[in-house]
Amino acid sequence: MKNILITGGAGFIGSHVVRLFVNKYPEYRIINLDALTYAGNLANLKDIEDKPNYTFVKADICDFDKMCALMQQYDIDGVIHLAAESHVDRSIKDPFTFARTNVLGTLSLLQAARQYWNGNWEGKRFYHISTDEVYGALELDKPEGEAPYGSEFFLETTKYNPHSPYSASKAGSDHFVRAYHDTYGMPTLVTNCSNNYGPYQFPEKLIPLFINNIRHGKPLPVYGKGENVRDWLYVVDHARAIDVIFHQGKTGDTYNIGGFNEWKNIDIVKVVIKTVDRLLGNPEGTSEKLITYVTDRAGHDLRYAIDSTKLKTELGWEPSLQFEEGIEKTVRWYLDNQEWMDNITSGEYEKYYEEMYSEK
Ligand code: NAD
Ligand code: TYD
Repeated sequence: MKNILITGGAGFIGSHVVRLFVNKYPEYRIINLDALTYAGNLANLKDIEDKPNYTFVKADICDFDKMCALMQQYDIDGVIHLAAESHVDRSIKDPFTFARTNVLGTLSLLQAARQYWNGNWEGKRFYHISTDEVYGALELDKPEGEAPYGSEFFLETTKYNPHSPYSASKAGSDHFVRAYHDTYGMPTLVTNCSNNYGPYQFPEKLIPLFINNIRHGKPLPVYGKGENVRDWLYVVDHARAIDVIFHQGKTGDTYNIGGFNEWKNIDIVKVVIKTVDRLLGNPEGTSEKLITYVTDRAGHDLRYAIDSTKLKTELGWEPSLQFEEGIEKTVRWYLDNQEWMDNITSGEYEKYYEEMYSEK
């Protein structure tokens, strides 16, 4: 029996990781630890909540005594750490919360694991999930024509150069994880992944926000000129990569995860509009009038592009879905699960959203 602690399992990516592990490894005991912040939602895990190998614990990773007690109570062998504050726009408004959760929370978990394992590293793993945003921004030196839109890519060896409070806090947490490997010999893993999309993503992020706004005929706020480039990966493929790396990755190592799938924001928006209009039975182009160019995000990184060759050559992982297929599945899921969306977008969300966009 392996006892695996997954943090942030009620969030977007975490819920896919929990689902994959609970279903694929009935012999493991999966403990999902989540503070249920605005981004955590147990409705994301309805289909697996009654499985015998699944346990949910509501806790804050910054509560060090609690982390120590849980390591002992569940005799944890492996940690897959996804709990974080994850939205760049929120980090610009409230950087302290990001430093607290992402830096101090990660440190609290690391120290709790270190104390519990007490130098007996055999069969133990601490796997930290991070982002490509820690590497900073790439040039857009080939803006015309087809992707890739630049000549450089993020490699595992690319120097960290974060620009937003979010990416700075993730960079800080990554450094702590590596320091625990180098200083204490803890068997750690770090992965840096590109932008994820798919079911259960909180509708403050581009794709679910825009699907929901199209459904309600609300404006689609495109930052700046919509020319920024992101590299998109279907969330289930990220969860598959996490499974492979957790089991086969070399401890002390870093792996980049991405799908070689760069898109300019405005092109993504057009694909989303086209797909939603088609699935809602609207004539093509109906929702294009909702595109609204707004003030750019402060410090908006121009281009992210991941080179995940190492993961492919060393561990054989590749994305399973083409982007067109992934977007179709994603839009269908949000349209088929409107109750999930409506439950989230009532109350507090409405207030946050109004405040956020009244400033744009
Ligand atoms: P999310 O915001 O959807 O979920 C975060 C989860 O963490 C929520 O369930 C929340 O309740 C929980 N959480 C927050 N603070 C906590 C605390 N103090 N204690 C315990 N739980 C807490 O985020 P996501 O998009 O699923 O991202 C998960 C991880 O993957 C993050 O570490 C993020 O940096 C990383 N990541 C995300 C992306 C992306 O595109 N979304 C890409 C690469 C890496
Ligand atoms: P987001 O989903 O917030 O992810 P990240 O900032 O982590 O990349 O944003 C993706 C891209 O879309 C990013 O370049 C910012 C842009 N964007 C908009 O243009 N409008 C929006 O309303 C949002 C949320 C994002």
